[in-house]
Amino acid sequence: MTQLYVSDHPLIQHKLAVLRDVNTDHRAFRELVRELALLLCYEATRDLKISSCKVMTPMGEAVGAKTEELIGLVPILRAGLGLVDGVMELLPSVQVWHIGLYRDEETLRPVEYYNKLPTEPTVQVCLVLDPMLATGGSAVATIDILKRWGVSRIKFLGLIAAPEGVERLSSAHPDVPIHVAAVDDHLNDVGFIVPGLGDAGDRQFGTA
Ligand code: PRP
Repeated sequence: MTQLYVSDHPLIQHKLAVLRDVNTDHRAFRELVRELALLLCYEATRDLKISSCKVMTPMGEAVGAKTEELIGLVPILRAGLGLVDGVMELLPSVQVWHIGLYRDEETLRPVEYYNKLPTEPTVQVCLVLDPMLATGGSAVATIDILKRWGVSRIKFLGLIAAPEGVERLSSAHPDVPIHVAAVDDHLNDVGFIVPGLGDAGDRQFGTA
């Protein structure tokens, strides 16, 4: 079953439109990616487990809640890096585990180049961060790695998906919810999302 969550929040949709704009410069682009990550994280963490706790206010004791699970952020290098700061504003105590993958330009298949996960899992929930879900190959490969590591509760958090990527990820990992701001029309013949926003890595890091 596909667990696809496309935010219809007005702030997310407004910021996404500015992000897509070809005239948005690198600095504004990075700031929008950070803000969108924060807003999407808020929506994607609705089902985190909490336990009750007691808290002393100036007026007496209140019953509060605290989150229970150890959370890991897994940005896919390099474009996923831009989503980390926004998410960490909401989740300051998370662990960050980087996975380096690039897409072979000819085959569009992901090639792993960085992975320093420790032998045993150190978190219970992972948020995989990547702005673009194109063919879905990078997300599937990352989630394969995390499941082999021993994490079973995984969510994908991105900005724009292609229908092809949603199909591929939800077929390979139907248990993984996909949280994005938009699902676009299609992939072109070189694997770019259309209309998309171009190359999210290049637009963040000025390498276009
Ligand atoms: C882009 C993007 C994703 C991947 C998506 O990365 O940031 O990681 O492609 O494509 P897929 O769904 O077809 O796997 P890219 O390979 O351009 O590397 P970069 O982040 O270093 O720019």
